[in-house]
Parts: sequence; C-alpha cells; structure tokens
Amino acid sequence: MSKEVENVKAGGNSAGYDKKLWGGRFATGPSHDVITFSTSIGIDWRLWEADIDGSIAHAQMLAAQGILSTVDSKDIVSGLNLVRQQIATALDIGENPFPKDVEDIHSFIEIKLKEVIGITAGRLHTARSRNDQVATAFRLTLAREGEGLMTELHKLQETLLERAKAETETMLPGLTHFQHAQPVSLAHHLLAYFWMFDRDRERISEWRKRCLVLPLGSAALAGTSFPLDRQRVARDLGFERPCENSMDGVSDRDFAFELVSNLSLAAIHLSRISEELVIWSAPEHGFVELSDEVTTGSSIMPQKKNPDVAELIRGRTGRALGALVQLATTMKGLPLAYNRDLQEDKEPVFYALDSVRGSLRLMKFMIEGASFHRDRMRAALTGDFSNATDLADDLARKGVPFREGHEVVGHVVRKCIESKLKLEDLSVDDLKQIDSRFDADSKRVLSHRSVMNARTSEGGTSPAAVAVQIAKAQAALQLKT
Ligand code: ARG
Repeated sequence: MSKEVENVKAGGNSAGYDKKLWGGRFATGPSHDVITFSTSIGIDWRLWEADIDGSIAHAQMLAAQGILSTVDSKDIVSGLNLVRQQIATALDIGENPFPKDVEDIHSFIEIKLKEVIGITAGRLHTARSRNDQVATAFRLTLAREGEGLMTELHKLQETLLERAKAETETMLPGLTHFQHAQPVSLAHHLLAYFWMFDRDRERISEWRKRCLVLPLGSAALAGTSFPLDRQRVARDLGFERPCENSMDGVSDRDFAFELVSNLSLAAIHLSRISEELVIWSAPEHGFVELSDEVTTGSSIMPQKKNPDVAELIRGRTGRALGALVQLATTMKGLPLAYNRDLQEDKEPVFYALDSVRGSLRLMKFMIEGASFHRDRMRAALTGDFSNATDLADDLARKGVPFREGHEVVGHVVRKCIESKLKLEDLSVDDLKQIDSRFDADSKRVLSHRSVMNARTSEGGTSPAAVAVQIAKAQAALQLKT
C-alpha cells in the first residue's frame, strides 16, 4: 500500500467542517455509528480529482446556458482549482487531507469549496445530484486508471517480446496434458503470453469508450428542468457522449463490472505464466532461474530460493475474481434507479485494479531478470518422443494413410520404450526393420531441431514462422499504445 493510501485509510483531521450536504429535513443528525458505517470517503477519496473536473465542467456549462452568472461560475471554478491545489499539496507531502467522518469525497469537496468561496459554493449543485456526480467521477477516474493499466500491459508485452527475440532457436518441450507433445521454441512460448496481454490491452482500450459515456445531467434519476448542454460537458471532460437515459445513467455500473471482468482475465493470464515460472524454476525442470530480487529464502532451509513473487501473483488472482463476484452480487437485485448499495461499487474495483497493476509491474520485473537455461530445456527433449508425430507425418508424405502411419509409429515408440532406446537414436536400418516404407528421410525428420523447424505454418513454432510473428507483435505494440 502506498504511503498516500495508508494515510488516507487512517483518516485525517476533520475539525471545523460542516460535514454533510443535507440536514434541513432532519431534527437530529445520524448517529455516530451510522456515520461510521455509511461513510465512503476512505475509499472514494480516489475520485477527488475527477470530481473537481466534473464540477468545473458543470459550472462552466451552467454559465454558458445562463443558469449561473458568469461571476459565480468563475468564482466556483477558481475555488475548485484552489481546492485541487490544497488536496494535491497535502497528498504530495504525505498528509491526509480527507477527514474520515465526512460522508464522501463529493461532500468533502463541496464543503471545502464553501470554505474557500463562501455561499456561492451552494450554487454549484444546481441541476445536479450526487447520483449523477458520483457515476461521472467514477467513470472518469476509471478511464484514467485504464490508461495506466494499458501502459503497464504494454511494458510487460515489450519485455516478453524482447526476451522472445533472443530465443527463437531455443527449444523446449511443448506440452499437452502436461506431457511432452512436440518441441517448441522458447520465443514461441513467451509470445503466447504476449498475445494474451495484447488482448487484455485491447479489451481495456475498447472498454474505455463504453466507460466514457457521461451520466452528468441525469440529475437524481429523471433529468432536470434546467436547459443543460450535456454535449458540451461530455466534450469538455473527454467523454464520448452523454448517456441516453437518465435512470440508466445514475444506476448503471456495467463499466465497473466490465473493467473487473477484464482485470480478472488479465489476472488469470498472469497466474498462468506465474505457474509456469514456478514449475520451470523447480530443480526437476531447471529451465529458469529467477533473479535474487524476486525470490526469497527460507527461515529454516538454507538452500531454498523460493519463487514467492510468482506465487503471490498466482495467489492474487483471487482478488480480481472475488471483486467480480462482489460487484455482481451488489448489482443483481437492484431496482431502478440509484440505491445506496451502489456505494459498494468502488472498493472491489480499486482492489482488483491495484492488485492487477502491481502484478503486471512485478511480472515485467521478473521476466526481465529471469535467466533461461537453454541447456536444461534442450536436455529435457532427449528421448522424450516429442519427435514421434513427424515420423508418422513422414509416412503420410510417402502415401501411407495417416491413421496407419500413426499406428506404425506407435509400435516404434513401444519398442523403443521396451528396449530403452531413444527414438532419435534409431538407425535407418532399425526403422526399416519395423516397416520397410521408412527410409533416410524418416531418420532425418527425427531430430528435434528439424521437428521444430518444420512447423512453418502461419502461427507455428519454426524460427521462420516466429520471425513473422515477432514482426506482427512489434506492429501490435505500435498500433495501440
Ligand atoms: N458516496 C455515495 C455513493 O458513492 C454518494 C451518493 C449518495 N447519494 C445519495 N442519494 N444518498 O454512492
């Protein structure tokens, strides 16, 4: 947790604030327990800057529409910018500007504005409700966070691509059912993850467009009698367009769910590559040694070098997936329009977001510093029968129906196992003895290198096909930055 977040969670000093935006209708305020139970500022403080931006766009539009005087609007805008400065300065020096007993960040900013400019602050909320305000600030904050997420994904992809470029000739067993299947290049293996993260980045980029649909102007739920210019606000804030329906506008959280769903997929991809790094770094494999910076020792076993970071990334997948379930559960029974349940939307999203962003950063770091042991990868192929398919393919090329060739090679494999021989060690004569249709070509296809090099089909593992893939990966990185 950053120092900033830690401080904020601890709660700041609230002395001197009038702490809520309503009250006229009530003889007494809510009890202390209710305030503690219902406040959200400990979580939604992260919306602070988007909230200020939203308020500025709203005030300027109100003035342009003649709903607010130019003087009042200017006062409000400069007041909000001052509040922005105050909050930014406090955060910069590690202070928590957010008191823990204010209802939420939106209340806090309006309260601060009143402190700065006096009663004119009360005009800002014209033709606006916290319902559309919250949804707007949340969307804007997440869209901005999405950019950072895309950068993180991009960086990890760059690292994977860089490492892949140097490993197009490095062979290791490709697995199905966790059994040796056919040899693949390490470059090909690493690039499989490159494309997973590329899809993740693409999903975030497409999601951002749907996230940037503007709820502001929906007011509490039904729209407003003031002549708003919602198109202008959308433009000013960098939204794609205003939402079509005010009731949907204040209560829709698809954007949050979609983000967490995208994050869950990224977390699953991170978990899969982590799992491989854990397995590869076990002595039985010895395919990789992770750097000292990302591994830890044991308090009892002096020899241990544990892949903790990979394990933690794998373990943290549960955070994103848990957040997805949490959010879905919050949403599933809600009638239109705003319900206070919706306040529960932010915590799971930020939790998933922070977890995945941190994992992406650490994964990049881990891949960067990993030492791949090419000799161990090569050794794992020896006598592993991952060249058997090519022997059957050889017969098929000679006109033997593939099914029949498969059967013949199956017998060859069984014989090898019985007599403790490696498939690649059989001579042409050995092969001919089993089936007269084998010849010198059959012997040649048995080398693992030729098995790998032969897979020249588009998207295949041969160095030639991987070179094409690398060019495409390079282009993908330039396309969506
Ligand atoms: N913090 C609340 C939220 O995030 C603010 C909305 C309160 N609105 C209301 N109508 N009570 O949803």
